[in-house]
Amino acid sequence: MTLTEIIDYFKSKLNLSKFMDSLERKTDFYDESENGSEENGSVGNLESIPYFNSGNSDAKSSNAGRISQNKDEPLIKLTNVWKIYQMGEVEFAALKGINLEIYEGEFLIILGPSGSGKSTMMNLLGCLDIPSKGTVCLNSKDISELNESELAIIRGKMIGFIFQSFNLLPTLNTEENVLLPMEFQEEDRQLARKKASYLLDIVGLSNKRQNLPSQLSGGQRQRVAIARSLAVNPPIILADEPTGNLDTKTGYYILDFLDELHTREGKTIIIVTHDVELVRYATRVVYIRDGEIEKIETRTKNESGVENEQGTKNEANLN
Ligand SMILES: Nc1ncnc2c1ncn2[C@@H]1O[C@H](COP(=O)(O)OP(=O)(O)OP(=O)(O)O)[C@@H](O)[C@H]1O
Ligand SMILES: [Mg+2]
Repeated sequence: MTLTEIIDYFKSKLNLSKFMDSLERKTDFYDESENGSEENGSVGNLESIPYFNSGNSDAKSSNAGRISQNKDEPLIKLTNVWKIYQMGEVEFAALKGINLEIYEGEFLIILGPSGSGKSTMMNLLGCLDIPSKGTVCLNSKDISELNESELAIIRGKMIGFIFQSFNLLPTLNTEENVLLPMEFQEEDRQLARKKASYLLDIVGLSNKRQNLPSQLSGGQRQRVAIARSLAVNPPIILADEPTGNLDTKTGYYILDFLDELHTREGKTIIIVTHDVELVRYATRVVYIRDGEIEKIETRTKNESGVENEQGTKNEANLN
């Protein structure tokens, strides 16, 4: 199947633009009155880069900074969230009563060892799954009240995912995988190609545009997934072990780029990881273990120490 065939298939299943309009009205995620303010955003020389489209007068095409809400209200709120997996007769509680509020513009790191429930939590934060008990609210809307099509639209427009398992389409080459989310958002094809080219340059894969995922290394696949997650310039970026398959230098390069998106574009970045080194980028660190939050610490970016909610300095320590 070619890229066009795949997109046409999905579009025939889902009348996206019509549905998007009705959803925007219904869920009130976007405040039209905010559209003008994007043009005044100080994004410096990033405006000249096709990806950073904050200066675009067609505000509909840019999602950055377009989350309509009271900044004092959490963007995502988990209330007494449980995730219980059923395996035949056996039940396993992967998350046990999680309470967490995430605010717009945070750089949040959810840190925990293997099996602690990080990917499970990411699936809930990204509206990919619903809790067994408790509520997940995005912009004060309970996601379990939305149907699958509505959730798919929110995911497509609001959230850029960087999955632990990449989730690239095997029959599409590198460039087509990056173009895919933009095709769904019906972006101008020429501009989409420019953005894809810029993003592939950022992740150092300009020379692999024609390669299929099977013709890439694990780290290169991860970089395609990162470029794809940024394609529609989503206000929220949700990443599961984004540096897990990258060498240290490339890993920090990618993290620096996400950091730039956070500080200059005000994007909300949520990373789940076991890598304690990444906390240097965070404004807040949530420590998770055995499906429960152990502690939450606020921090000043780029310092080695972390400050807990009571203001005491600690060294980040996973074990
Ligand atoms: N579909 C499932 N059915 C049953 N148990 C599951 C399922 N998915 C995850 N689990 C269990 O839930 C727990 C949390 O899994 P999760 O994938 O969230 O961990 P994680 O913190 O992301 O780990 P890692 O760092 O290894 O990726 C694990 O013990 C796992 O075995
Ligand atoms: Mg995981």
